[in-house]
Amino acid sequence: MSLKNLLTERLSQAFAAVAGEPVDPVVRRSRHADFQAEGALALAHRLGRPPREIAAEVLDRAVLTDLCSAVQVSGPGFVNLTVAGGLLDAQLCGMAADARLGAAPAGRPETVLVDYSGPNVAKEMHVGHLRSTIIGDATVRLLDWLGHRVIRANHLGDWGTPFGMLIEHLRDLGESSAAHELSIGDLDSFYKGARVKFDADEAFRQRARQRVVALQGGDPETLRLWRLLVAESESYFLAVYDRLGVVLTRQDFVGESYYNELLGPVTDELDRLDLLTDSGDAACVFPAGFLGRDDEPLPLIVRKRDGGYGYPATDLAAIRYRLQDLGATRLLYVVGLPQRQHFEMVYAVARQAGWLRPPARAEHIGFGLVLGPDGRKLASRAGDSVKLVSLLDEAVGRAGALARQKNPDLDPATVAEVARAVGIGAVKYADLSNDRSRDYVFDWDRMLALNGNTAPYLQYAHARIQSIFRRAGGTPASGGPTGSAPAGDSISVTEPAERALALELLNFGAVIGIVEQNLEFHRLAGHLHAVAVAFNGFFEHCPVLRADREVRNSRLALCDLTARVLRQGLYLLGIAAPNRM
Ligand code: ARG
Repeated sequence: MSLKNLLTERLSQAFAAVAGEPVDPVVRRSRHADFQAEGALALAHRLGRPPREIAAEVLDRAVLTDLCSAVQVSGPGFVNLTVAGGLLDAQLCGMAADARLGAAPAGRPETVLVDYSGPNVAKEMHVGHLRSTIIGDATVRLLDWLGHRVIRANHLGDWGTPFGMLIEHLRDLGESSAAHELSIGDLDSFYKGARVKFDADEAFRQRARQRVVALQGGDPETLRLWRLLVAESESYFLAVYDRLGVVLTRQDFVGESYYNELLGPVTDELDRLDLLTDSGDAACVFPAGFLGRDDEPLPLIVRKRDGGYGYPATDLAAIRYRLQDLGATRLLYVVGLPQRQHFEMVYAVARQAGWLRPPARAEHIGFGLVLGPDGRKLASRAGDSVKLVSLLDEAVGRAGALARQKNPDLDPATVAEVARAVGIGAVKYADLSNDRSRDYVFDWDRMLALNGNTAPYLQYAHARIQSIFRRAGGTPASGGPTGSAPAGDSISVTEPAERALALELLNFGAVIGIVEQNLEFHRLAGHLHAVAVAFNGFFEHCPVLRADREVRNSRLALCDLTARVLRQGLYLLGIAAPNRM
């Protein structure tokens, strides 16, 4: 159990005894002591007693001698707590001996489906897809590490009316030159080429419409052309994933087309359940509680007048399939916030239809926009959506230049490795370290800075520790991200900077537990940043290699534990931790 939870548990008992009812002691890290409990302040109101008096009575009753070396009432009624040195040491040794670094595996492992990335065929992935891919990848890594069964679902936009015009455009260009345009990742120009003709040319529009009918009717030649488009785009997306270092593979593509044959049966089921309404124009469901601007009930359109199905119908078929056929009990949709209402309506319908029942639940892991330096949606100079591959190339290029500048002695192979780790890591970290529900500004200089809450800052702290071990003439005992626990020297912390680092490190497990629930990766990022800051403070004040043998060994063990936390934390964020920089 984390220190904070241990203290909370003991104080809760004392608070309850004073108040005659359960009270949250509100334990936090503090600058004035190791921890501070603020519960007396709120309780004072309720009991009509001075908070300091309550705090003193709590301290009288609390059993803390084995946990704290000093306790004190302070300020308006805080309880200051100093953790006993022996306890700190024991906890650190326990953590060092634990391959999981104090992060408990899932108590009840479950099948979690993560719907993420979801780019659209024959269209450039935009930065929204980048965000989804990065956040989804971290989600998959974390839940997998905790022992859940994770299903990765890349809900590719590979079906629907646009494919009429896209296939006709493909035929106009000729298969080989179309394939060439798509394989070099010029998806935007392909899409626009089709669009321009569609908007200007009635004959083309006719052909496109007939082509949609042929596609839906399963015409073999049309399906062959459609598959060509999908295959080229998939290869392109896989190249982006590879560049990003995310774990998505070809097997994870389960596009909208997959649900095509389920759309009819799902619609029939909704009809049987009396959930379907014919609104004159379309067959809709009106899930309870969703109102439009004029307080009109909002429809989720299932089947259009022409008999076609759209995005909402596909998501209904998908949610039923995921719950009933895949047996998922936690569904995570990593999609931009503008689609929040769409998903809330899909979940509501799934509940009304009886598909989505506890313990199963569906959560929208929404996120904000990526903004350019001008504060508007990030775009290229021409105003187009930014090409992801060129964005990632630029990240690696910039990081390489910085690496050479910082350390001219690095050999070219190491520079290349560092450039990739830092460049891609910086892009991911800029995304994950921001509260995902907010927009953030894409700023090269800030994300690549060696100082601040950035990937390079964390990576540098990690590399610095590795260099200590190189100078110590040994390799750290620990292995890779999930490597086994080292044999370990006993750790004993005494100096304030050592204690500060220890208290941060010991918080790792609790942070992981919180992020498992809320998938707010900026909390993990913030924790790793706090660890790196504390480490740099420790390194500045506490000699490691020059210390006497026993202290030196303890400090080396503390360094090793720090490196492992940083490496594991970065790994969970999908970010590499090079050994030198
Ligand atoms: N292709 C969609 C888009 O680009 C994202 C798909 C999200 N997932 C889902 N199940 N609808 O907006």
